[in-house]
Amino acid sequence: MSFPDGFLWGTATAAHQIEGGNATSDWWEFEHRPGTPCLEPSGDACDSWHRWPEDLDLCAVLGFGTYRFSIEWSRIEPAEGEWSRAALDHYRRICDGCRERGLVPMVTFHHFTSPRWLAERGGWEAPDAPERFARFCQRAAAALGDLVGWACTINEPNVVALMGYVLGAFPPGVHDQDRRRRVDDALVRGHRLAVEALRSGPGSAPVGLTLSMSDYQALPGGEALADRLRHQSEDVYLQATGGDDFVGVQTYTRIRVGPDGMLGPEPGVPVTQMGYELWPEAVEATVRRAAAVSGLPVLVTETGVGTAEDGDRIAYFSRVLQGVRRCLDDGVDVGGLVAWSLLDNFEWTLGYQPTFGLVAVDRRTFERRPKPSAHWLGELARHGGGDLAG
Ligand code: BGC
Repeated sequence: MSFPDGFLWGTATAAHQIEGGNATSDWWEFEHRPGTPCLEPSGDACDSWHRWPEDLDLCAVLGFGTYRFSIEWSRIEPAEGEWSRAALDHYRRICDGCRERGLVPMVTFHHFTSPRWLAERGGWEAPDAPERFARFCQRAAAALGDLVGWACTINEPNVVALMGYVLGAFPPGVHDQDRRRRVDDALVRGHRLAVEALRSGPGSAPVGLTLSMSDYQALPGGEALADRLRHQSEDVYLQATGGDDFVGVQTYTRIRVGPDGMLGPEPGVPVTQMGYELWPEAVEATVRRAAAVSGLPVLVTETGVGTAEDGDRIAYFSRVLQGVRRCLDDGVDVGGLVAWSLLDNFEWTLGYQPTFGLVAVDRRTFERRPKPSAHWLGELARHGGGDLAG
């Protein structure tokens, strides 16, 4: 199975999940809070703050063409209005390091974590949070913009709002629908201002939002509820992407909805380490939907599977790629696929238990060991396709 020339093949990470010692972020505080829902703190993570050259080497040597990573706002602006040149230089070296290895740097400006000073002022509920975020984007773009290949404003704002303000599983750990709605508005505004800030240059990287999407499947009688859930969680954001250069789709599973609510996994369908169904076809469904609703070119900026069985990962990506190929055959503009994740890393509330990595990381020595899936997917990337499993 072949993919077009120019199709992007990449792997993704996020600062807090791999860097280690990210102590000025709201997540660090959340992990150490009495009664935290987190199974364990992030600690040293994968020590990528120091070992990033090894990560880039792996990504390039395996055969990928792009590396998606996030820059940590709380390191760059550790106190309000106080900017760390050293942190910006650090991320500039990573962008440079990508370019030197032939990797296109795809930079995310907010991946779940915010600085503690902002959290103390109300986080995304602080009236000026969107402006503060845009100011950070502008500073970061001034330092890195000429090297950035793709710019992602906010990673999964819908997850930030849902997990943080309804399910209480992300900071600030709140359960309140009304507050979630206000935070949705703030995140939409933050995205729009960030697009403007990032476009102020230097550089001319395409700018977009990366959204968590699921294939909502209504069972008889569940149609209205499925529509409502989908609208609340996805359309509110898709409708805010007008004028962007692309939309990033990040999909991990389907969600079945009956008349009384969301249903758990269907008997007989395998379940991942995350507790949801292994359902790779959800990527095809959401790519089609994101393209139709936004009218923008789509990139799959994340998909992957938390599993201890690496063979399942190969089967998962094979089915995902078959779905992406069907989209291309139907003329859907999907420009690439970025696998979550390069490394086994800190999976938020679930700590280091779920393993999404193409590469295993020894928790004591930080040694990286590529799994068979890393070589398999890297070969597909190198050749723009090949034999898919199954
Ligand atoms: C997030 C990642 C996370 C992954 C797997 C995505 O929602 O962007 O940070 O690790 O899913 O759960």
